[in-house]
Amino acid sequence: MPHVVLHTSSPLRELIDELEPFVVREADTVWRLRDTYLSKGGQHALAECLVVIAGRPQRFFVHLAQRAHDAAVVVRLYASPPVEPLPSVKRMIALLAEAVERAHPDVEIAHSTIREAFTDRYRYEPDPRRTGWDPLLSLETLGGRIEWEAIYGRLGEVEIEIGSGKGSFLVAAAADRSDVNFLSIERARPYAEHLRDRVNRHDLRNVRIVRTDAGRFLAERVVPGSVRALHIYFPDPWPKKRHRKRRLITPDFVAAAAQALEPGGEIRFVTDHAKYFARATAAFEAHSDLRAAPVLEAEMTDLTNYERKYRAEGRPIHRARYQRVPPP
Ligand SMILES: C[S@@+](CC[C@H](N)C(=O)[O-])C[C@H]1O[C@@H](n2cnc3c(N)ncnc32)[C@H](O)[C@@H]1O
Repeated sequence: MPHVVLHTSSPLRELIDELEPFVVREADTVWRLRDTYLSKGGQHALAECLVVIAGRPQRFFVHLAQRAHDAAVVVRLYASPPVEPLPSVKRMIALLAEAVERAHPDVEIAHSTIREAFTDRYRYEPDPRRTGWDPLLSLETLGGRIEWEAIYGRLGEVEIEIGSGKGSFLVAAAADRSDVNFLSIERARPYAEHLRDRVNRHDLRNVRIVRTDAGRFLAERVVPGSVRALHIYFPDPWPKKRHRKRRLITPDFVAAAAQALEPGGEIRFVTDHAKYFARATAAFEAHSDLRAAPVLEAEMTDLTNYERKYRAEGRPIHRARYQRVPPP
């Protein structure tokens, strides 16, 4: 029987709460998740699915069951009404597993017997009934240095996260502090699109996303002195010596970051990689406009997906915070 196993330590109820209906279209086929029903005890759920091929609809259910011994969730076809596990049906199971993974930060696809059904991860349209605006900005249409007021439609403090990955920090922070204007600078298209979907689903109107290199963006597109905070969590460490030049935090990057900050504005940096931490903090400390500041108590938590993962593995986490000094 085709199935996918999702690793998680969260209750199935929480995962289902985050899951939204979606529609995917490819050639003459449409896959739609209509609704999800949780059992009373919360250990099982049924996802009502519709696959339409060349105008012919087929309705069936996919079963999600949380295992008692390890909390993993097994996603498979439900027996009633009986359906053949055709490729289009397997694709529905794969899309559903991906949707659960993307909807909740504590979910990872661990195993699948239908690898062929995962054709193009992280590419699906959110249900069009729920969209109507796009937080992912096109850099080309933005012109030179960016007027924050124009892109958010309001005045407000601006905080930027660099390399937001799956976006757990940004989504939580933006929901918590709706008065702040948040920007994600994420270079990888799949992650930028993944975050766009999450922002759309949570209707976080205070978030914008740009898909580009953060160093260049800070240096060339941000009005100097206009940013309240820069969040840099678990940037790729590039541990091999020959790859070091790919690291995000270099003296040039630090100069661009310091320039972007308003006086008193801050940089928050977290990594599990001790050597990268040492080099990056040396670069921050060498900048005349930046001063080390105490790390805030509130930050000692699982800020991002990587932090959650690394802490579970018992890796040490290194944190630093810097403030831009006011001009003399
Ligand atoms: C290791 S992941 C960490 C993701 C997230 N911050 C977390 O802690 O879960 C690093 C992220 O930074 C992005 N990234 C790497 N270099 C970048 C750059 N120069 N500009 C913008 N994003 C970058 C990658 O695409 C990736 O999503």
